Amino acid sequence: MATIEIKPGIYSVGAIDWDRRLFDELIPLPNGTSYNSYLIQGSEKTVLIDTVDPTKQDELVNNLKKLGITNIDYIIANHAEQDHSGAIPEILKLYPIAKIVCTAKCKEMLMDLLLIKEDKFITVNDRETISLGNKTLEFIHFPWVHWPETMLTYLKEDKILFPCDLFGSHLATSDIFAVDEPKVYESAKRYYSEIMMPFRIIIKKNIDKIKGLDIEMIAPSHGPVYHKPDFILTAYKQWVSDKVKNEVIIAYISMHGSTAKMVDYFINKLIEKNITVKPFNLTKTDIGELAIALVDAATIVVASPTVHIGAHPNVIYAVHLVNALRPKLKFVSIIGSYGWGNKLVEQLTGILSNIKVEIIEPVIIKGYPKKDDFGLLDRLAEEIYKKHKECNLIS
Ligand code: FEO
Repeated sequence: MATIEIKPGIYSVGAIDWDRRLFDELIPLPNGTSYNSYLIQGSEKTVLIDTVDPTKQDELVNNLKKLGITNIDYIIANHAEQDHSGAIPEILKLYPIAKIVCTAKCKEMLMDLLLIKEDKFITVNDRETISLGNKTLEFIHFPWVHWPETMLTYLKEDKILFPCDLFGSHLATSDIFAVDEPKVYESAKRYYSEIMMPFRIIIKKNIDKIKGLDIEMIAPSHGPVYHKPDFILTAYKQWVSDKVKNEVIIAYISMHGSTAKMVDYFINKLIEKNITVKPFNLTKTDIGELAIALVDAATIVVASPTVHIGAHPNVIYAVHLVNALRPKLKFVSIIGSYGWGNKLVEQLTGILSNIKVEIIEPVIIKGYPKKDDFGLLDRLAEEIYKKHKECNLIS
C-alpha cells in the first residue's frame, strides 16, 4: 500500500493483501484484505497505531522509511491478534525507544504471543489519554471485539476513531476511503458476520461508549477508511439490534433427490407467502455467504438426508457454524428424509446449545415426498408465516 495522508500529519502506512483467500485457515476472503496501520506525527511525539501481519512487515517498514520516520515514541496496540501485532517486534528493532501502549490484558497476551519483554509496555486505563503535543489520544476499553483485550483509540483534535477490527471489512482495494459503498457494505457485513456477530450483545451494550464522541472519520485496521462514519455506524446499529428480517434461510443437502424435492416445494410455498428465501446448497455455497444471511434472518430451516441415521456431515458443520456465530435467529426447523430410521432432529437441535431459538415442529419423512408430506410442508410454511408476523421485523 502506498503511504497516504488521510488528514494533515496522519498517514495510512499499512499493507494490502490482494491474494489472501483464507483467514485463520478457516474464513473465506473472496476479496482479499488489508492490514491498516496509521502513523500520527504530533508536535512532540510520533505514534504508530497497530502494525501489520508479519508476512507484510517489510511493506510497513518501507512505508515508514519513505516518510523519513526516524523515531517512534508509541506503538498503540488496540488488539493482540497477530495480523495487527505481528510486526511489533520488527518495529521495536528499528525504533528501540518506542513503548507499546495497550490494555493490561493486551500486554499479557503480547508477552505470551510475541515474547515481548515487560519493560516495553505502558498500560492504559479506560478513558486515559496521552498527549502528542498538539494532538491527544484517548483510549476506550471495548473488550470482546473480538478478543478480551481490545480497545479503541480516539484522536480528539482530528476526530478520528481507530477501532482496529471493529467496523472493519476484509476488502483489498486501492480506494483509501469507502467510496464504493455497496461493495464495502457487503464486505463489512461479511466481516461482522464471521468475526463480530458472536459478540453482538456485548457490542450492543458497549457501543454507547462511543456515542458521545464527535467522529469525523473511522479508520479501522481492515478495509477502507470511513470518511462518512454514519454509513458504518448505521449498518452496525441494525446488525446488532434485536430486530430481524422476514427471511428464511434454507441450508440443505440432498443425496438422492428426496430432500431436494422437499426444499424446492418449500421454497415456493414461502415465496407465495411473501417471505424472502435464501437457499444455500451446502455442497456448493461459500460458507461466508451463509454467515452474511444469518445477520438478519428470522428463521433457518436445515434440510438433510440421513447418513448412518444422522445428518449429512456438511449439514452438521453448517449447524455447528450457526451455533458458533450466535446469530439473532428467532426460529429453527428441520426437514429431511430417511430410508429406515433417523435421529436428525435430536442430533441437530443438540448442537444448537448457544442460541435461544424456538424450534418449529420439523418435517422428517420416509423416502421420497408424497401428498401427505407436502401437506406437512404447507403446515410448516404457514407456521413460519404466522410466527414472523408476531416478530419485531426490520421493515
Ligand atoms: Fe484483524 Fe482480530 O484481527
